[in-house]
Amino acid sequence: MSIELTYLGHSGFLVSGSSHAVAIDPFLTGNPVAGRGPDAVACQAIALTHGHADHFGDTVAIAKANDATVYGAFEICEYLGEQGIEKTEPMNHGGRVDAPFGFVAMTQAIHSSSLEGRYLGMPAGIILAIDGVTIYHCGDTDLFSDMKLIGEIYRPDIAMIPIGDRFTMGPALATRAAELIRPKIAIPVHYNTWPPIEQDPAQFAPSGVEVKVMAPEQTLTHG
Ligand code: NI
Ligand code: MN
Repeated sequence: MSIELTYLGHSGFLVSGSSHAVAIDPFLTGNPVAGRGPDAVACQAIALTHGHADHFGDTVAIAKANDATVYGAFEICEYLGEQGIEKTEPMNHGGRVDAPFGFVAMTQAIHSSSLEGRYLGMPAGIILAIDGVTIYHCGDTDLFSDMKLIGEIYRPDIAMIPIGDRFTMGPALATRAAELIRPKIAIPVHYNTWPPIEQDPAQFAPSGVEVKVMAPEQTLTHG
């Protein structure tokens, strides 16, 4: 089976399999590089790496409009419950939840997670298995050597790795991350959304890993 993966800009993706579409970190409103608004996202599930506004984004509106299930940190799901979102799958690091399309697992990320001053649990990476394709979205994170273990355990086909620097890894550390994870394809994310995270993605050059630089709204078919 094959999946279609569309880059929504910044850290966001829409991953479509044969029966389900999953949005990851759907930040569209206020995103200067986004090519669509939240009304143009049709999905059955949303997976969140952490609660920062540039990842949590339009989750409430998209979840309500689509009656979608949100996979995220326990504290994010508590917050969503207060917003009237009842279909949630609260998780934490190390957890794996079976889903109608495959599974969602949560890995560690070295970062922070809050929204308007409220603590929203630990930041995470997301493992998304859909139609036999495995994706590792690293979230916002520093480099850590357990990325090698995450790569060995989940054997991701595709990894999304932040390269923007300042708030996450920059290109040099992200290159090391990709060489630890060893996905078939690495997609650089979290750069060129605003001036403080401007980067040249050509500086993200892991050996032995194919890099796909994606423009917002570009779609990759895999599998
Ligand atoms: Ni963040
Ligand atoms: Mn971020």
